Amino acid sequence: MALNGTLRPGLVQLRVLDFDKTLNFYKNILGLNEVCRIGEDRICLKGFDEFDHHSLTLRLADEAGLDFVAFKVASADELEKMKLAVEAFGYPVDTVAEGDQPGFGKRYGFTISTGHRFEIYSEVALAQKGPGIKNPDIWNEPPRGMRAQRMDHFLLYGPNIAEAERFCKEVFGMFVPEVCNTPDGNRLAAWITSSNKPHDLAFVEYPKPGKIHHLGFYLQDWADVGNAADWIALNRLKLDIGPTRHAITRGLSIYFWEPSGNRIEVYAGGYTAYPDNPQRVWDSSELGRGLFYYSGEVIPSFLEIVT
Ligand SMILES: [Fe+2]
Repeated sequence: MALNGTLRPGLVQLRVLDFDKTLNFYKNILGLNEVCRIGEDRICLKGFDEFDHHSLTLRLADEAGLDFVAFKVASADELEKMKLAVEAFGYPVDTVAEGDQPGFGKRYGFTISTGHRFEIYSEVALAQKGPGIKNPDIWNEPPRGMRAQRMDHFLLYGPNIAEAERFCKEVFGMFVPEVCNTPDGNRLAAWITSSNKPHDLAFVEYPKPGKIHHLGFYLQDWADVGNAADWIALNRLKLDIGPTRHAITRGLSIYFWEPSGNRIEVYAGGYTAYPDNPQRVWDSSELGRGLFYYSGEVIPSFLEIVT
């Protein structure tokens, strides 16, 4: 449910090291469907419950990490208005031509304070194999592996997240259901949304720019988080933490690394966010309980490893 001009994060491009093990993970273990290829070095995928053309592009590269995240806005008019608002905020904007990614119209791109490339677009074709719309079944083909339904959110690490948070509110029209502050009152982390999801994206303050902590995919429920744990074990994927519960967002969660070294979260649940609800505020001394409600402790790898 869009509450403003920005609908949701709709496209992420990740760097991966190979297309054999990594693509096997995304298709057969996570359960995404391959949609198309772009040249020799990019492969486009989507979750079975996503309507738009694709939501994840994997690009072959020498190191793992994030190329960009792209947000779908409600209309072509809104896109042009938002481009002007980005420029007025102080970020130079470039144009990515229509067709750079199959199915996608023109995209505008810019770099925010944390060093991440953000893009916005309004036009994207519907997927050929999307969810049913006429007397629809719950799915058209049995979901595979972890049964990831859709790309859900991402956690970005970089400097000056206070400005990034202000950008998301003032330009994207998003709101901030939950934050974590240091004892001296500075922002350590923020969870930000354009919808009823508790977060579409989150930021953690970090000295190096442009880093991604994890990309999150949505599962149905606790049983599917347990199913994901079984797939992690069966395929000898490196587990980071979970299954566990966040107090922040209240999500049910497990984190692990895909074969190229990008951290993935599969996630279910979470509270319903409304922009008029009071903001939930965490002290950094309580962050362990906020992140991992049962143990109350953050493991070092979770804080320190990013790509
Ligand atoms: Fe997450």
